[in-house]
Amino acid sequence: MSAQPIEAVERDDVLQPRHPYRRFLRSATRWQVAVERKVNELVSYEQNPFYFHGALPTFVFWMLIASGIGLLFYYKATLTESYESLVYLAKVPFGNCIRSSHRYSADAMLLAIYLHTFRVYITDRHREYRIVPWLTGVVLLLLTYVAGISGYMLVGDQRSWGLIHQSVQAFQAVPLVGDFLASQVLAGPDITDYTVARALFFHLLSAMAIFWFLWMHLLRIRRPFMIVTIGIGAAVVGVILMVAGLWPAGSYTPVVEPMHVPEAYEIGNWLYLPGFWLLSSAGPLAFWGAVVLLFGGLLMLPYLLRDTRRNIAMVVRDKCVGCQLCAIDCPYSAITMVPTWNERKKKPDLLAVVYPPRCSECGVCIGSCDFDAIELSSMPYRPIEDLVKELAPKREAPAEAAGD
Ligand code: HEM
Ligand code: SF4
Ligand code: SF4
Repeated sequence: MSAQPIEAVERDDVLQPRHPYRRFLRSATRWQVAVERKVNELVSYEQNPFYFHGALPTFVFWMLIASGIGLLFYYKATLTESYESLVYLAKVPFGNCIRSSHRYSADAMLLAIYLHTFRVYITDRHREYRIVPWLTGVVLLLLTYVAGISGYMLVGDQRSWGLIHQSVQAFQAVPLVGDFLASQVLAGPDITDYTVARALFFHLLSAMAIFWFLWMHLLRIRRPFMIVTIGIGAAVVGVILMVAGLWPAGSYTPVVEPMHVPEAYEIGNWLYLPGFWLLSSAGPLAFWGAVVLLFGGLLMLPYLLRDTRRNIAMVVRDKCVGCQLCAIDCPYSAITMVPTWNERKKKPDLLAVVYPPRCSECGVCIGSCDFDAIELSSMPYRPIEDLVKELAPKREAPAEAAGD
């Protein structure tokens, strides 16, 4: 079969995909773009939250860190004092505001992450060369849950002890390592001061791990969009402060006797704690089933569809002068400069090397290279005039012109 029909078939498949899942993603992207255009009309391009889907969780995360540092000045991580130390915040200037902003920023963070995940999935920006941001993103989601749940364990009220107790039960149900995991949550055989300290440790550790995974998350994105506009930032801060003012964060009844774990307690937060409702109503098996389904499903999602990759960038070795411009410009860090020996100059030099799985076939590097040293490996030759003709908007000729 000649090359021409294969190219024609591939081009058709790109324009009108035959694979049902690919067709779904294509039309979902179109719907999403249509929604985003409507939002542009309402609030302008600069204030459209969909365009700041990655910057939003980053921004809220900074709010969490700032308010969390404020809380650390007053929080006492012991069984008897944790509850009182948080209640005491009401007497400190802006104390309640700091506590409430911390709690509502945590909610906002999860909502922002859901928006971000939805946007990258629905616009098909979660597969192939974006696999690293997606997989590390799933870890970031898990870490956000760990930070949130361990945060609720710190309050020292009925709910805290209920959460600790149920977590222990859930971990004990894990085969082989269950008792070990449970003892890590408790930091001993029972709920003690060490348990509170351990919850604080997990809380801070997961926040720090978010930093680490965020770095990995953005490693393959050369110019991540990480800053929200002043308008969006002000709106987020304003809403969080307003909610904090209207419904200040509080605690449930304190536990008089911590060893006496409450039979039932109020879940209160349905963003972070629905798993605990599942635990008490359906048991550990259902809980772990839901966890595996959610996180396993998210991890598998990018592998449901594979693209045929034919236009991966290729460096023409003899032409590359090692200027590094392509490596700087490549949006997905697909080009690495490797040391080599320049036979012509008889001295060590640098050579650009493309790492194919990271290449998005975007062609940016072709534009970066002033030395004609990069080609897309199987880009069919198309005269530029043909492309211009094909891309030009097709308009009806005006009536008078047609008559001439
Ligand atoms: C702590 C939570 C998270 C933060 C702070 C965060 C932040 C970011 C930022 C700043 C970007 C760059 C966005 C851009 O340049 O347009 C990004 C990209 C991305 N994120 Fe996240 N993210 C988080 C969680 C997640 C989760 C849970 C997922 C999915 C499971 C995810 C998947 C992705 C993907 C696939 C990209 C690449 C998108 C592209 O190249 O257009 N992220 N993230
Ligand atoms: S821009 Fe061209 S010449 Fe410069 S390093 Fe890249 S491939 Fe080599
Ligand atoms: S085509 Fe070039 S610029 Fe684009 S991702 Fe591949 S190597 Fe990077």
